[in-house]
Amino acid sequence: MAVRAGGGKVSRIDTLINAMTLPEKLGQLTMASGSYALTGPLHFADPSDAIRAGTLGNLLNVVGATEVHALQHIAIEESRLGVPLLIGFDVLHGHRTLFPVPLAETSLFDPAIWELTAREAAAEACADGISMAFAPMVDVARDPRWGRGIEGPGEDPWLAQRFSQAKVRGFQSGNLAAGTSVAAVAKHYCAYGPVMAGREYASVDISERTVHEVHLPPFATAVAAGVAAIMPAFHDLAGVPMTAHVALLRQWLRDHLGFDGVVVSDYNAIGGLILHGVAADLSEAAALALNAGVDIDMMAGAYLSGLPGALERGLVQLAQINTAVYRVLTLKERLGLFDDPYRRGATKEAAAMLGPRRALARSIGARAIVMLKNERAALPLAQSLRRVGLMGPLADAAEQMGGPWPAAGNTEAHVSVLAGLLSALPQTEVRHAAGVALGGDGAVDAQGALDLCAQVDVIVLCLGEAALMSGEAACRTHLGLPGRQREFAEAVLERAGALGKRVIVMLFSGRPLVVPWLVERADAVLACWFLGSEAGNAVADVLTGRVSPSGRTPVTWPRCEGQIPIFFGQRPSGRPANPADSFTSRYLEAPNEPLFAFGHGLTYGSFVFSNLRATPRCARREETIDVHVDVLNEGTLAAEETVFLFAHDRVASVARPLLELRGFAKIFLQPGEQGTVNLRLPAAELCFLGGDLTVVFEPGEVEILVGPCAERARLLHTSVQLL
Ligand code: GLC
Repeated sequence: MAVRAGGGKVSRIDTLINAMTLPEKLGQLTMASGSYALTGPLHFADPSDAIRAGTLGNLLNVVGATEVHALQHIAIEESRLGVPLLIGFDVLHGHRTLFPVPLAETSLFDPAIWELTAREAAAEACADGISMAFAPMVDVARDPRWGRGIEGPGEDPWLAQRFSQAKVRGFQSGNLAAGTSVAAVAKHYCAYGPVMAGREYASVDISERTVHEVHLPPFATAVAAGVAAIMPAFHDLAGVPMTAHVALLRQWLRDHLGFDGVVVSDYNAIGGLILHGVAADLSEAAALALNAGVDIDMMAGAYLSGLPGALERGLVQLAQINTAVYRVLTLKERLGLFDDPYRRGATKEAAAMLGPRRALARSIGARAIVMLKNERAALPLAQSLRRVGLMGPLADAAEQMGGPWPAAGNTEAHVSVLAGLLSALPQTEVRHAAGVALGGDGAVDAQGALDLCAQVDVIVLCLGEAALMSGEAACRTHLGLPGRQREFAEAVLERAGALGKRVIVMLFSGRPLVVPWLVERADAVLACWFLGSEAGNAVADVLTGRVSPSGRTPVTWPRCEGQIPIFFGQRPSGRPANPADSFTSRYLEAPNEPLFAFGHGLTYGSFVFSNLRATPRCARREETIDVHVDVLNEGTLAAEETVFLFAHDRVASVARPLLELRGFAKIFLQPGEQGTVNLRLPAAELCFLGGDLTVVFEPGEVEILVGPCAERARLLHTSVQLL
């Protein structure tokens, strides 16, 4: 009689494990790519044979109910034990309907939206037979040379935690077995953002404090939210590759946090342990990963071909393999794959859903735009406008609008800025000239664009990066405009200036760009990131004033690459910057201040903050501090303001960051209207890691700062006494 180790009723999973051969067990620990979107070496041949033999239990990059169901049928009907397949895909910001890239979506500072778009994406992905999304990416990123900041929630751990929770809830919607839910995978665990010199896949060497204060919290939040899986990152942390990191993967994640879900390696990351120089062969690599608690080997074939040898060499025990198989089969059971392996994809996405979803993508796109500058009343465009000159390499570039992880998004169906403006301004003549190539040194039609300046009333210049200049394996050492765009933009600014024409710049990028010269000379500059399927309509809605811009940047914008890493949560220094004293923390040839602070973003309103108050003035750990501030819209247009709450513990047992984000709220005000924003701050949120990295709540005064962004000079402040 087969029994589960430790006694108890024999479950379906126990019965299966007891019946499995070793190759069949290892098949459940293997994930191979189906057809496309390879992000590394290796590629299994036709997976059908391996599925039929029971040596492949999970796939990625297979999209479409027909293809998925055909493979599922082989697994269920033609393999010896009929174990259903798990199908994973990179559903980062939508599936067929693409929402703004995660960094752009974070600019909304709206957890309800973050959850909603994950839920909508899950519904679309499930209709294509997908049961696992390799998302959310919750790596805190503070070095924009690194390309992957676009995939995540920006520079702040507290914000990343809220993003993480919202996304896990959205993808999994509290019922993994539902036909519109997918298993979420929090990635890339952990501290991937601070790769050495901002270079992809490079080593990471940071303090244990920073790992625990900055990079682990979003994963702890994901686990608390019930995330089904975690994906370790490619890099080594102080010499220990994350894929083999026993202390963080097993001891912290599983033993300390109690995570009992699945750990799925990144693409061929187990094979990468050999190149890291910590494994001599695939058996040693497989053993290191299994001993660290990695359950699924994505695309290395290391478990399938390496673990038998590791068993023979005593590097691992069969019980460890059984435990990993148990976790994978448990996830498949929780997903309902045993009960109905065809549930996902059984019903096509109702065509009626796509219209509202695109409308949602458009609305979110408009809210994701961050207006960095708006002078000379450049925006919104006047209704009386007769001729617009639309220029630059991203003006008619629908294929770029989906960003670097377009998933199954149909890039041809994306709305370009040109199409959006033509649709929004039927009575206005929109004249288009690309003017210059996106990259390289090819000048396309600069003279045509320059001639156009004299024939139009206003110029909208669409500049920035190509979609693949950020994302994975897309790091940059110069963060200005690629190619000859600067040369082109300066010529247009020169000509427009001479003609007295206003220039509005729309910046498309996967990171903050270093463009102080452009900000200085353009009348308006808006960060558009990559806005997805409805990009052009979203841009047009903001340019025409149909939507008042409300996005706030979730990353600091450096004035120059030399300031990097630059973020608002820096510690004070024993010699804080003092312009009057050269022996203080400063540069010889650049200010410490960024081009734009975290949270910066203009609207069509003009807001004044006043009357900040916090009650109670003294608070114990279990109490909540109510922070109120009055906000007045002195502008002539209605708009939505975002109010941030920061804390600063001036004197503590460990030097605390100058600002710690601990809240944000929104308020929409008509011209002349005043309202009051209430931000609730649980005193427990002022805990921090003491000298021994255990959580402490220290009595003493804490400053409370409230305002429009992480610029201390623009914040109102008061203080509370912790008891
Ligand atoms: C890639 C990425 C990871 C992605 C995986 C599958 O290399 O690092 O984010 O989920 O492979 O595509």
